[in-house]
Amino acid sequence: MSHHDERTFVMVKPDGVNRGLIGEIVSRFEDRGLQLVGAKFIQIDEELAHEHYGEHADKPFFDGLVEFITSDPVFAMVWEGADATRQVRAMVGETDPAESAPGTIRGDFGLDLGHNVIHASDHEDEGANVREIDLFFDDEELVDWTRSGTTWVY
Ligand code: TYD
Ligand code: MG
Repeated sequence: MSHHDERTFVMVKPDGVNRGLIGEIVSRFEDRGLQLVGAKFIQIDEELAHEHYGEHADKPFFDGLVEFITSDPVFAMVWEGADATRQVRAMVGETDPAESAPGTIRGDFGLDLGHNVIHASDHEDEGANVREIDLFFDDEELVDWTRSGTTWVY
């Protein structure tokens, strides 16, 4: 990991998984030049859902959010790159797909506020990326590697 790089947490939510959007979403981050350092396909349980969305525990949508995120598997990932948290949030769009610009992931695929296809760490919440990576991944599940570039590609 070079000094200006950071890691950020991303997951394809159950609606994205059910609609077959994992590959499309992974492609977008690859195309952008971000580097994958960890990934897993998991079913989130109640406890993990409560921890992950703890900041929203008092909100009226909390119970529905927990029910949705535990309803089917998610595809959790860690991506690395310069200013990765901000970059990824820009690619994701706004929380509400209806307010997300075309070309963003939620703008292109999101259906409504609850079913917005993807989670990404909040860049305005200092340290959210590190907390979320720690919550979902053990250290040994993350791979330290450096892309070798295109020198051996014909
Ligand atoms: P939030 O952290 O505000 O959004 P983001 O995912 O963009 O960081 O909210 C977490 C999730 O909660 C959001 O992705 C969808 C859901 N949600 C609702 O269902 N209703 C709401 O009114 C809000 C604000 C969020
Ligand atoms: Mg958030």
